[in-house]
Amino acid sequence: MADAKKLFIKTYGCQMNVYDSERMAEAMGAEGYVTTDSVEDADMVLLNTCHIREKASEKLYSDLGRLKPLKQGKPDLKIGVAGCVAQAEGAEIQRRMPMVDIVVGPQAYHRLPAMARASGPSVDTDFPAEDKFDHLPQRKANRGPTAFLTVQEGCDKFCAFCVVPYTRGAEVSRTPARLLAEARDLVARGVREITLLGQNVNAWHGEGGWGLGRLIREMVAVPGLDRIRYTTSHPGDMADDLISAHAEVPQLMPYLHLPVQSGSDRILKAMNRKHTADHYLRLIQRIRAARPDILLTSDFIVGFPGETDADFQATLDLVRAVGFGMAYSFKYSARPGTPAAERPPVADDLADARLQELQALITAQQRAAQEAMVGREVSVLYEKAGRLPGQMVGKSQHLMAVHVDDAQGRIGDLVRVRVSASASNSLAAVRIPD
Ligand code: SAH
Ligand code: SF4
Ligand code: F3S
Repeated sequence: MADAKKLFIKTYGCQMNVYDSERMAEAMGAEGYVTTDSVEDADMVLLNTCHIREKASEKLYSDLGRLKPLKQGKPDLKIGVAGCVAQAEGAEIQRRMPMVDIVVGPQAYHRLPAMARASGPSVDTDFPAEDKFDHLPQRKANRGPTAFLTVQEGCDKFCAFCVVPYTRGAEVSRTPARLLAEARDLVARGVREITLLGQNVNAWHGEGGWGLGRLIREMVAVPGLDRIRYTTSHPGDMADDLISAHAEVPQLMPYLHLPVQSGSDRILKAMNRKHTADHYLRLIQRIRAARPDILLTSDFIVGFPGETDADFQATLDLVRAVGFGMAYSFKYSARPGTPAAERPPVADDLADARLQELQALITAQQRAAQEAMVGREVSVLYEKAGRLPGQMVGKSQHLMAVHVDDAQGRIGDLVRVRVSASASNSLAAVRIPD
C-alpha cells in the first residue's frame, strides 16, 4: 500500500456527522485512499462541518485559512467541504475560498468518489430521492465494539431557532431490511453496542406501521448485539411502543436523551416546539414508570428572543423537577434563514449569566447522578485501554465513562463491575469476578 493516497477527515457537529465521516472514509477506501491522522501527509482533506450555531460555522473558515499554506505548497492537495455548512452555503464557500475543490451536502455523499476523481472544482447540494448509503461502498474490516447507525435523516419539525430542516432536508426513514442487514454486518465485524441515530430518531417509521420500538425489538434479535441505544428524540414522538420497549427489552439501555429546550410554555410556543412543560413532565413520568432506573439527559437553549427572567426561572424549575443525569445548554445563536433570527435578541450579558446559572445547576445534578452510582454494580463495555497500566475504559449502561482496574480486560469485553468512586466526568470501578 506504499502508493495509497491519504485522506484526512475532520468532523464537527453531531453523531450523524461522525457516522457520515466513517461512511465517506469507507467509500474513499474503495478509491484507494487510506485515512491519516496527519493533515500534512494528506492528499485529500475533508472537513465535515456543522451549521447549528454561529461558532460551529465559523470554524470552517478558520480551518480553511490554516490549510492555505499547505495547499500552496502542494497544489494537488484536494480540499473538500462536506456537512451542513456545505449544504447551507454551497458555492458561496468556493467564492470565499477558491482553494476548495469539492463542496458536498449531506444527502449527496454517494457522489463524493466521482467528485474526487474529477479534475475541476465541483459542488453538489442536491437532495436526491435515493438512500445515499445504498450507493456508498463498505469496507468490511473489523472494528471497535460500539457503532453508530443512522436510521433516519432530516427533520420536519421546524423549531424556530434551528437550521437542521434546511441543511438535512425532510424526514426520511431508511427501510428495516437495510437497517437489519447493516446491524448484522456490524455485529459480524465485532460490534456489541449500536446507537441508532437520527435528528428525530423516534420519528422513524417503516412499512406496516413499524415504529422505532418495533425496530429495536427486531434488532436485538440479531445474535451478539448486546446493547442498543438511540438518539436524538423529540418529546412529541415518544410512542407507547417505544416507552414499553424500555420496560421489556433488556438490551435497550436505561438512558434517554430527550431535549426540552426550555421550561417556559411561552418560550416553547415561540420556539415552535409543539409541546408544553407539563406535557414533557408527564411524559417523563410515564417513561420512569416503564423503566425506573432510566437516566435522562436533555438540551437547553437560554436567551431565546423574548426570554424573560420568569421564563428562565421556569426552565430552572423544570430542571429541578426532572433531575437530569447530564444536559447540554447553549446560548441562543441567531441562524440565517430561521424565523427566530428576525426577532429582537436578549442582551448578551443577560444570556451569559443565565447560561452560567443553568450550567451550575446541571453540573450539580450530574455529580449527584454519578455519586448515586458509587457502591452499585453496573455493566461496562470496554472501548479502550486506560491511561494507567492494567486499566480499561468503557461506558456503563447509563452512558457514564467508567475506569476499571482489570489487567486481564480486553477491548470488547462486557463485564460486571462495582463502582468505587466518582470523579468529575467519570466513575472508577472494580471488576466483579465472573
Ligand atoms: N434533533 C435534535 C438536535 C438538534 S441540534 C433535537 O431536536 O433535539 C442539538 C441542539 O442544539 C438542540 O437540541 C438545541 O438545544 C441546540 N441548538 C439548535 N439550534 C440552536 C441555535 N440556533 N442556538 C443555540 N442552540 C441551538
Ligand atoms: Fe432542529 Fe427542532 Fe428538528 Fe431538533 S426537532 S433538528 S431542534 S428543528
Ligand atoms: Fe450540526 Fe448538521 Fe448535525 S448542523 S448538529 S452537523 S445535523
